[in-house]
Amino acid sequence: MNIEEIKVKLKKMVSKERFEHSINVAQVAQRLALKYGGDITKAEVAGLLHDCAKDLDYSTQKKMLIKYNIKIDKFSQKIPKLLHPLIGAAIAEKEFNIKDPIILKAIRVHSTGAPRMSLLDKIIYLSDKIEPLRNNDGIEEVRKIAEFSLDKAVLKVMDSGLLHLIRRGLLIHPATIGARNNVLAKVALLDAGK
Ligand SMILES: [Fe+2]
Ligand SMILES: [Fe+2]
Repeated sequence: MNIEEIKVKLKKMVSKERFEHSINVAQVAQRLALKYGGDITKAEVAGLLHDCAKDLDYSTQKKMLIKYNIKIDKFSQKIPKLLHPLIGAAIAEKEFNIKDPIILKAIRVHSTGAPRMSLLDKIIYLSDKIEPLRNNDGIEEVRKIAEFSLDKAVLKVMDSGLLHLIRRGLLIHPATIGARNNVLAKVALLDAGK
């Protein structure tokens, strides 16, 4: 499936707002891929498809888990928002014929992060949070940091995401803790000039 075919199919699956968000994420992801030496086409495809399952209602999502035999851990079972990346990766593979494991993983880990994140994983994770339609507090600072350090920008987004969850007394997926520890270690090395 080429990019235009992906866009046409995606447009039918998500709301107008979600489609705009997906186009924006794909654009930011391509720019970050160019800046940090990633694959621009993979960034575009993963950006377009990362939320392809997000507008499915909960009962459809549960059917999809069975249909595509998607295994979910006990944390994702308790956090419904974490299902759409897993289902999205399965839909990208089965319905958009995306076979590249690097693209599929970037879709799969775009909400939680993962202890070992690839360049594309980080690019999609960050693009999702800083695309032009996002206007959370502190977003401009993250956008500035993203211009010189991908790891520092990812860490900043992870920290504010974790603080948000803690303030609201919500469950934190352990993959997010692993992701944050890993990126923190990379940033510490950067700051030590290594
Ligand atoms: Fe998402
Ligand atoms: Fe998103």
